[in-house]
Amino acid sequence: MKVYSIRFHSHAQLEGHIPRCNCVPGVLDKNLPILGKTARLEPKSVWKKVKGTLKIKVNPAKPQVDRIRIAADAIKKGGLVAFPTETVYGLGADALNPDAVAKIFTAKERPADNPIIVHIADKKDVYRLAKNVPNGAKKLTAEFWPGPLTLILKRSSLVPDITVVGLDTIAVRMPNSKVALALIRESGTPIAAPSANRAGKPSPTTAQHVIDDLAGRIDVVLDGGSTKVGVESTVIDMTTRIPRILRPGGTSFEDLKKVLCKVRLHPAATAEKGTWVLRVRAPGIKHRHYAPEAQLILIEGKLDRVVKRVKELTAVNMADGKKVGILATDETMSNYDADVLKSLGSRSNVAVIARNLFRLLREFDKEKVDIIIAEGIPLKGMGLAVMNRLRRAANFNIIRV
Ligand code: TXA
Ligand code: MG
Repeated sequence: MKVYSIRFHSHAQLEGHIPRCNCVPGVLDKNLPILGKTARLEPKSVWKKVKGTLKIKVNPAKPQVDRIRIAADAIKKGGLVAFPTETVYGLGADALNPDAVAKIFTAKERPADNPIIVHIADKKDVYRLAKNVPNGAKKLTAEFWPGPLTLILKRSSLVPDITVVGLDTIAVRMPNSKVALALIRESGTPIAAPSANRAGKPSPTTAQHVIDDLAGRIDVVLDGGSTKVGVESTVIDMTTRIPRILRPGGTSFEDLKKVLCKVRLHPAATAEKGTWVLRVRAPGIKHRHYAPEAQLILIEGKLDRVVKRVKELTAVNMADGKKVGILATDETMSNYDADVLKSLGSRSNVAVIARNLFRLLREFDKEKVDIIIAEGIPLKGMGLAVMNRLRRAANFNIIRV
């Protein structure tokens, strides 16, 4: 048995936290040059290679340090690692290494004008990345970090241009996920990470979704199971006199209002109409997003009228020979009959609806439906984030009844 050396340069190792792993060289491979000769992982049930991408299982409640370290090694060497956060899976690279960040754009086919959120594991790091942290932002970090809230701040000179696509601002968040936090700490650098999907596709909420989109394009996926929140973080611009929500997400507008005296919703946050008519502040919001392969039509309004219209549209499209999918809720399921019928969950629990949303959109694609007819839900709480995703997945093809 050949035994390879392990390099010692992670925090946890220096602090002596890492148990000696009793393993054989398992995953060393020419296809994974980024990992070099430091990676060893056993038993085989823990890891799997898909088209050269190494998927490693990790316990989300108690991430195994030796497994995290393999991913951290890839980050340190300028590679790409997908990892779970509490919201969705992110595709991470060393935020301070321009060559590494450039790889994110290539792997995702991400438009070059869409800046990337920088993830930190220690609240204090925001002062290294931002030039100025206003009082409102301090209050938000105290209340909501770690958590699904991203702050837009004036950036410091530490951050390379490519991470923020040349803007004078930076998006920062501290995720509430033990795996994400361990990865950032072990890597010893802030991690730039957009959602780990191909550009335009629904965000991934499982490691399998990441594999479906990015296998062969990235070095490692840490598989920590399904993400809890299911929609991305709320993005709030703290550089304007009155803070503005650019993207609703896992932290609700109502909760933000309790902490900030004043906060506004950017029109893009409600996504009632195409953002090409808006003055775009978050560059990402002008690109097509969350889109399944099938055409999605969103029906909004009073529930009984919504159900009626969904049934009419289903009948018309099925008569046309189309394979129709309906995205319903527990309360309305029994009204419908379609080729593929799925429920987001109960209308009384929007958190569950948010958790299911992207997975179900991807499932419709697997079933190869031609059209998805989706019910709208109320805009309260996380409902705003869900409707922002649905309206954009529908490419603003919305019927109001
Ligand atoms: O929950 C999340 O936020 C996930 C996980 C992985 O953390 N990340 C995520 O990243 O959703 P991404 O790239 O898919 O979406 C980030 C959004 C984009 O719309 C981007 O345009 C916006 O944040 N953004 C990033 N930096 C910005 C900046 N400096 N100014 C305005 N918007 C910014
Ligand atoms: Mg995204």
